Amino acid sequence: MINDIKVIKIFNSRREKTIGVILKTNHGVYKGFAPSGKSKSKYEAKVKDINFAIKSFRKFKKLFKNKDESEVDNLIEEIGINRIGANLSIALSIAATRAKSRNKVYELVEKNKSFPYPVGNVIGGGMHRGNTTIQEFLSIPTKSKTIQEAVLYNKIFYNEVGKELKSKKVLIGKNDEGAWISKYDDFKTLDFLSNMANQFDVRLGIDIAASHFYEKNNYNYKFIELTLTSEKQLDFVYNLIKTYKLLYVEDPFYENDFKSFSQLTKISDCYIVGDDLYATNYNRLKKGIKLKSGNAIVIKPDQVGTVHQTLKTVELANKNNFTTVVSHRSGETTDSFIADLSLTTKSKFIKCGIFGKERESKLKRLLELSKLIGSNRMVKL
Ligand code: PGA
Ligand code: ZN
Repeated sequence: MINDIKVIKIFNSRREKTIGVILKTNHGVYKGFAPSGKSKSKYEAKVKDINFAIKSFRKFKKLFKNKDESEVDNLIEEIGINRIGANLSIALSIAATRAKSRNKVYELVEKNKSFPYPVGNVIGGGMHRGNTTIQEFLSIPTKSKTIQEAVLYNKIFYNEVGKELKSKKVLIGKNDEGAWISKYDDFKTLDFLSNMANQFDVRLGIDIAASHFYEKNNYNYKFIELTLTSEKQLDFVYNLIKTYKLLYVEDPFYENDFKSFSQLTKISDCYIVGDDLYATNYNRLKKGIKLKSGNAIVIKPDQVGTVHQTLKTVELANKNNFTTVVSHRSGETTDSFIADLSLTTKSKFIKCGIFGKERESKLKRLLELSKLIGSNRMVKL
């Protein structure tokens, strides 16, 4: 039963303020922190200004007191996620989910013993800074037999990429997500990384995050001076998949182009993943399943504001053979909730970065879970 709810301000990885919730119950204290996106979908639940959210929550607080923690998501949805603000809402929902499961979120949906592959952001661009229009260049350690190996291989790859960029004098620094920023453009980055990936036996993925550079019916790649129509973008991405043996392509088209997602999925043999396209939204996924727009969906709980809504979407995905990719946001906190979520939802991937305490907290939690459940095996891809 809930005795009290405290809402606090904390800093995320961008040193911006975000919301934390401390839920006091008759069986313990549970926390939840809200991450913050930068490259957002139009279809995400809306966040509120932090001060405003905290102030306006005062009038809702009494509705939660003396209620069971399992009623929290229902109450939030009754009040309205947009009225509370998706940032306060998800922090509260995460804290309540921890309380409800007595800190065993990893068993919330199902007891699962196979770990997802960590998808690590190695080189960054797009809205996360850098010199590429493609937003994220990702490594996936598919040869790993255990979660321990998988975490280690991504880290080794990341470190070696950094060293190599430095020795070539093209390293600039790190971005919001701890990924390297280099002087290389999109093509040079892919050439360089695919060469490194061969040496280190990892597979590559990209998050194109195409919505952010789609303007007036064209995709504008400013660093490689390419302007592509939707049909040309389809050819372009298809060729990238072939040339660089990509395993994973996220948001190859802008957030309303269900049709092109479907065409690309039909002709390619990799994971075609919808992030901005789906925004973790049940109805959008329903449409995407019907149209066969992609074969995988990014799951970001803050995009829908409650764990309940998140799990509804996951269930629909699992029933329809859509792969789930549980994901962090670029502005992250040290909350490791998504690690537990990725395990209990039987996700094939967890996208949580590699470097920095906000990213490492998820990886550490996966290793901790491995001990807790007595398994280290990886899911079948
Ligand atoms: P974010 O986006 O900056 O909104 O977290 C990352 C992504 O597109 O996956
Ligand atoms: Zn994305």
